[in-house]
Amino acid sequence: MVEVRVLPTEQEVAQEAAERFVKAGREAIAARGRYAVALAGGSTPAPLYRLLGEPAWREALPWERVHLFWGDERCVPPDHPDSNYGLAWREWLSRLDIPPANLHRVRCEEGPEQAAAKYEEELRAFFGEEPAFDLIFLGVGEDGHTASIFPSTPAVLETRRWAMVNHRLGEALPRVTLTLPVLNAARYVLFLVTGERKAVVVCRILLDPTLHRNALPAARVRPWAGMVTWLLDAPAASLWLRLRTSSGTEGA
Ligand code: 6PG
Repeated sequence: MVEVRVLPTEQEVAQEAAERFVKAGREAIAARGRYAVALAGGSTPAPLYRLLGEPAWREALPWERVHLFWGDERCVPPDHPDSNYGLAWREWLSRLDIPPANLHRVRCEEGPEQAAAKYEEELRAFFGEEPAFDLIFLGVGEDGHTASIFPSTPAVLETRRWAMVNHRLGEALPRVTLTLPVLNAARYVLFLVTGERKAVVVCRILLDPTLHRNALPAARVRPWAGMVTWLLDAPAASLWLRLRTSSGTEGA
């Protein structure tokens, strides 16, 4: 099930994402006693993390029941400006009363391969047989990548591992990423996409995902039993809104 929700501004995307994050959390905790979430990296989630760090949201969930993982991590120290964990920590988690053991960051300082192996161990110890995130936040790059699953890289075809080292083509910086088997086992995937520069890739993915599944890894995120919502601001949705009526595709 794929839902597309367009909101006028990135701040309204952040507000909607925060509300859905809390709603999914209350449902998960009521049903299973805990809430397992994978956070997105990059810059798009910053307004969401900043909002969740505000006093009005700090008591929104029983944080001792909430477990936060990361969809991917750049292999830099946690306090590095490029660290995905660092972004969430600075904008949100440093203001939250959440047990440190519930923050399952990728320990890149141990070296990429070791970090990926330990992250996989931690995921399997947490989930057991099958990974079952209640919610995974994802972004999308202009090249169609999501997490650190870049076009034409080994991560696109990985079917066994839950976490692995991967690189953006031409980039030396190693990254550790969740793989598609984990993303597609999620109960709920929430793509957060804002800004005019994402309009083309959003349109390509939403208009014809099957056509682009090889070229655009984000089009391969189709949870077999879960739901996907594309939460877009108007600039990111602008091309798709214009073309979907002529192509007759559905959409919110
Ligand atoms: C990362 C992210 C990546 C990100 C997209 C979009 O570590 O870079 O996980 O998948 O979501 O590149 O990045 P922006 O939000 O900065 O546009």
